[in-house]
Amino acid sequence: MPDPWVRVAGVRVTPRSGKHAGDGGRTRRSYRQETALHTIYDGHAPRHTASGLMRNSRLTTFVLLGALPLLTASAEVRLMVAYHSQTGNTAQMAEALAEGARAAGAEAEVKEIGNVTQADLEQSDAVAVGSPVHMGDVAVPVRKALVDWAYGFGFWRSRGLSGKACAVFATGGAPSNGKEFTMLSIALSLMQYGMVLVTPYGGLGASATTGVPESEKGVGAHELEEARELGGRLAEIAGRLKD
Ligand SMILES: Cc1cc2nc3c(=O)[nH]c(=O)nc-3n(C[C@H](O)[C@H](O)[C@H](O)COP(=O)(O)O)c2cc1C
Repeated sequence: MPDPWVRVAGVRVTPRSGKHAGDGGRTRRSYRQETALHTIYDGHAPRHTASGLMRNSRLTTFVLLGALPLLTASAEVRLMVAYHSQTGNTAQMAEALAEGARAAGAEAEVKEIGNVTQADLEQSDAVAVGSPVHMGDVAVPVRKALVDWAYGFGFWRSRGLSGKACAVFATGGAPSNGKEFTMLSIALSLMQYGMVLVTPYGGLGASATTGVPESEKGVGAHELEEARELGGRLAEIAGRLKD
C-alpha cells in the first residue's frame, strides 16, 4: 500500500479524505492541492510496470507543473500603497514597503493618496496607508481620503474593502510626538471598512523618526528595512486571505 499521506509545500494532506476535509477554516487552495494530489496518487497506485511508471512520472510532472500556480499564493496579489508626503520622507517609506511586497512576489503600486481611485482600491487585494505626523495626528489629505473612500467611493455601503488586508506606516520629526497615534488613527479608519490589519512582528506599523537627532535627519536604513518587511508580510497575508 502506498503511503496515503503526501507532503507538499509543508502541508500534509491525504489523497482522498484530506486532513482538512470538512474543516471550514481551510481554503480553496487546500482543496485544489488535494485535487491535484488525488490525480498523482491515483495515477501511481495501480501501475507497477516500467512503462507504467514512465507514463506516471510524466503525468506527475505534468500535474505538478499545472498545480504550481495554485501553490504560490502571493503571485497574483496586488497591493496599493497610498501615502501623503510633503518633504519626501513618507514617500520613501511607501517605496520601501512596495519593494518588500514585490520581493515577496506581489504586484505593488505606489500613489499619493489623493490620486488613488475607486478602481485602484477595488482591484487591490491589500492596501497600505501612510502619513506624516502633522500636529500629533494624521495629515489632512490622508484623513480626507479615508473619509472620501467611505462616501465618495461608496465603500461604507458596498463593503467593497471588507476582508482585504491592510497595513499602516508613518513618519514624524520627533521620537515621541504622534507616530503611534497617527498609525492607530489610520488603522481604526481601515478597520471601519472591515479590513484586516497586518502588523509587523511587534508594533502597529512601520515608522520613521526623521527630524531628531540633527545629524541623522531623514529616514534611516533600519526604518526602510522595517517598511520592506511589512510590505513582504502584507503581501504574504493578503495572498492567504485571497485564497
Ligand atoms: C505642519 C507640520 C506639523 C508637524 N507636526 C509634527 C508633530 O506633531 N510631531 C512630529 O513628530 N513631527 C511633526 N512634523 C514633522 C513631520 O511629521 C516629519 O518631518 C515627517 O517626516 C514629514 O514627512 P514628509 O516628508 O513625508 O512630509 C510636522 C510637520 C509639519 C509640516
